[in-house]
Amino acid sequence: MQTLRVDLGNHAYNIEIGTGILTQTGAKLRILLPEACKAAIISDSNVAPLYAAQLQDSLAAAGLPSELIIIKAGEQSKNMQVLSDVLEKIAIAGLSRSDVLVTLGGGVVGDLGGFAAASYMRGIAFVQVPTSLLAQIDSSVGGKVAVDLKSGKNLAGAFYQPKAVFIDTELLKSLPLRFLHDGLAEAIKYGCIQDKNLFERLAGYADDTELLADAEYIVARCCEIKARIVEQDEFDMGLRALLNFGHTIGHAVEQYYSYGYYTHGEGVAIGMYQLTRRTEEMGLTPIGTAAKIAEVLQKYNLPFQADVGKKVLLDTMARDKKKKGDSITLVILDNLGSGKLQKIGWKDMIEYLR
Ligand code: GLY
Repeated sequence: MQTLRVDLGNHAYNIEIGTGILTQTGAKLRILLPEACKAAIISDSNVAPLYAAQLQDSLAAAGLPSELIIIKAGEQSKNMQVLSDVLEKIAIAGLSRSDVLVTLGGGVVGDLGGFAAASYMRGIAFVQVPTSLLAQIDSSVGGKVAVDLKSGKNLAGAFYQPKAVFIDTELLKSLPLRFLHDGLAEAIKYGCIQDKNLFERLAGYADDTELLADAEYIVARCCEIKARIVEQDEFDMGLRALLNFGHTIGHAVEQYYSYGYYTHGEGVAIGMYQLTRRTEEMGLTPIGTAAKIAEVLQKYNLPFQADVGKKVLLDTMARDKKKKGDSITLVILDNLGSGKLQKIGWKDMIEYLR
């Protein structure tokens, strides 16, 4: 088991990573929040049947009765109406300000549950128990919580840090392969922007079994990279944008297909390759980098191109919150393992599309 500290002053917290942590959640919470009398667990219709009973038993054994609140699995649930229903259920369960909310699920559950924790009684303690690879290495760490609006993804939210993140890598074994690979795209991203060794390690596994056997290392390394970035830029005013490598094009591709065709990681995979191919042509990235990215993406059945024209991509990107006024900040690779931020004029963005 590994413990990482996210050093954010008076709201610092630990990320604990290992196998079997799910069933230790109650005991760990008891130490962390001795005053808590009750818990609400937010989970979804896919994850709750698999793991909610184990979590509830673990909490009960630590003297924490819990109310299980299940939302329908899928991004469609990440909206104001579901948030409002969840908040009502927390209120009906009688949680007080000293109680705790536990999110058990992937990114949707973590984002919506975290936002519920941030808003219920103006903020109660919450802990993340992420179950997908994407949530374990990205969305559960760093305190971004949100729901989608009709006008766009994550448009209503907050920065609200959990009290702890408990990551049980054993849970990844029940993840459908497409969603394991979805998360892997973000792991490849961390390798691209900060850690060539991680990139090469991901490229080197013989198969998914070998990859899963090394899950604790992968998750811990990705969380460590993210934690160090978030510590320097909690509120996403600068450096944290490094985490957006591949996301500008990726989000546009996802949105073009109304979030119904490509998963988030698949969009990011396309974005990483396409931008790098272009920055190579522009002489900003060493030749051969994009080919290395394509090779590892293909290995995990991740796409690297999509049938979307430049003009359509540009129009879609114009609505993205990463665009600020007349400029946009891209993450480009100086080298494999070394990403940097590059602010460009919006009028020049077309040059970065293939
Ligand atoms: N997922 C990007 C961030 O947390 O900033």
